[in-house]
Amino acid sequence: MAHYLVTGGCGFIGSHLVKALVKRGERVRVFDNCTTGKAENIADVADKIEFCSADLQDIDAVSQAVEGIDYVFHQGALPSVARSVADPIVTNNVNINGTLNLLVASRDADVKRVVYAASSSAYGNRPKSIKSEDLPPNPASPYALTKYVGECYCQIFTQLYGLETVALRYFNIFGPGQDSSSSYSAVIPLFISAYLNGEAPKIEGDGEQSRDFTYVANAVHANLLACHAEGVAGEVFNVGCGERASINQLATLIGEMMESDTKPVYVAPRPGDVRHSLADIQKAKRLLGYEPQVDLKTGLRRTVDWFLQ
Ligand SMILES: NC(=O)c1ccc[n+]([C@@H]2O[C@H](COP(=O)([O-])OP(=O)(O)OC[C@H]3O[C@@H](n4cnc5c(N)ncnc54)[C@H](O)[C@@H]3O)[C@@H](O)[C@H]2O)c1
Repeated sequence: MAHYLVTGGCGFIGSHLVKALVKRGERVRVFDNCTTGKAENIADVADKIEFCSADLQDIDAVSQAVEGIDYVFHQGALPSVARSVADPIVTNNVNINGTLNLLVASRDADVKRVVYAASSSAYGNRPKSIKSEDLPPNPASPYALTKYVGECYCQIFTQLYGLETVALRYFNIFGPGQDSSSSYSAVIPLFISAYLNGEAPKIEGDGEQSRDFTYVANAVHANLLACHAEGVAGEVFNVGCGERASINQLATLIGEMMESDTKPVYVAPRPGDVRHSLADIQKAKRLLGYEPQVDLKTGLRRTVDWFLQ
């Protein structure tokens, strides 16, 4: 039986991945220091997994965690543009040094493949709104840069050392369990919790900026495919739905689902934010057999229901 390591397994996406692996009967080890994640996210499978509570910046702990591991899903990172603008050094240390530690340890432990959580933010503000993997990256924030450097390190480790890596550029993943309590939280949980509390959701800028909002089950599906697909070592793939919605449309959709007539308020645009982001998912379809499993409206309904329960 294969043995999987999920870094950041107590986080939003990582915890969904951990539960999917456990459901398939796989052996799973989780590595997390619970900076932004919570042990309670995987509480219902806690007796079926191994848990290493440690920091990605600690190379000895990372080396210990990869011992005996076949496949690594590297989700662990500090995942916010705004946090990275406020404190670029800590984001750099965790996202770049942590990823390098993980790659070195995985190489030395003969891990079969590392699947890396990359980010669509690597594209930055390119005039072309549809982002395909052959566009040159243009990161617009320290966070975006760190995630892109992680990708480059993955490719270098494949080329230099033969460690198989696959990078998945996630486009605005959302779903149950996503943190809504921090000023660094993503827009969907922030909007839902605003409506829940009878407060006006805050829209940064004019709200016409758009994103390819992607339900978390699609990201899990892409990870599982990327882990075992043949002939894709060193490749980078977009993971999105291939549909876009503006922030204004999103606020309206969520407001309708929550039967709220509270109107959003408009505040100053966020530094480092990109204007439009839409995934071209043809490469993932062709080489991974990826197809989005859950569309935006269905995903939003499930997410709203989770927050309401
Ligand atoms: N959510 C999105 O839309 C999105 C988009 C693009 C990329 N990503 C990437 O996907 C991954 C998961 O993101 P998420 O949304 O689930 O965020 P999250 O914050 O819920 O998960 C990140 C996890 O990493 C852990 N972590 C942070 N620093 C650590 C450290 N020093 N040592 C060990 N663990 C540490 C956190 O505690 C958390 O559990 C991240 O790598 C993020 O950059 C997410």
